[in-house]
Amino acid sequence: MRIDILTLFPEMFDGPFDVSMIKRAQERKLVEIHIHNIRDYSTDKHHRVDDYAYGPGAGMVMMIQPIADLIEKLKSERHYDEIIFTTPDGTMFNQKIANNLSLKGNIIILCGHYKGIDQRLREKYFTMELSVGDYVLTGGELASMIISDAVIRLIPGVLNDETSALSDSFQDNLLSPPVYTRPEVYDGVKVPSILLSGNDRAIEEWRYEQALEKTRRLRPDLLKEE
Ligand code: ADE
Repeated sequence: MRIDILTLFPEMFDGPFDVSMIKRAQERKLVEIHIHNIRDYSTDKHHRVDDYAYGPGAGMVMMIQPIADLIEKLKSERHYDEIIFTTPDGTMFNQKIANNLSLKGNIIILCGHYKGIDQRLREKYFTMELSVGDYVLTGGELASMIISDAVIRLIPGVLNDETSALSDSFQDNLLSPPVYTRPEVYDGVKVPSILLSGNDRAIEEWRYEQALEKTRRLRPDLLKEE
């Protein structure tokens, strides 16, 4: 898979993709991440990347020209399966969308800024508009990292334990059950005895009950989905 990220702040990406599973996924050529500085494509003599919004008091909007030129350039080089815009007024990103995206070949993610982008640009190029939550970030960079991270770990071969993605929270619209490690008694509290029983089937049932109870209590909305 190839992910092209279009950003005004490429330096924000130093770090998050250079550690742990995402680093290993790149080393093993399971994913290529390309960070593009939108400002490098501005033909404005001051390399401006923002522009005024029509109408009073509307704030600044990302300039059309550098974004359009960069997307056209990338599209002329290869086919893209999805072109994504990160924005608080997008569809809510979730595990199902992450699963779908992990099966794609090439995707572009544009990190939104200011008051966003021109509506005509949205309609012309973007196949998906994604929000990572009902709150407003300073820009779409962190959102693009969240989306990339959630997608990359689902690419076959990225996780060490192939089965572990299947037991993630949300994979069955359920939150994960609690987990325990050593010691058997910590701070006077014992590990639930079922986990020490050696009865794998009973443990699976217990985990399912725990997941269901936790989901009912904390995220009843998930149980209503589909
Ligand atoms: N940009 C600013 N806030 C955002 C959000 N919640 N999701 C995606 N992109 C954003």
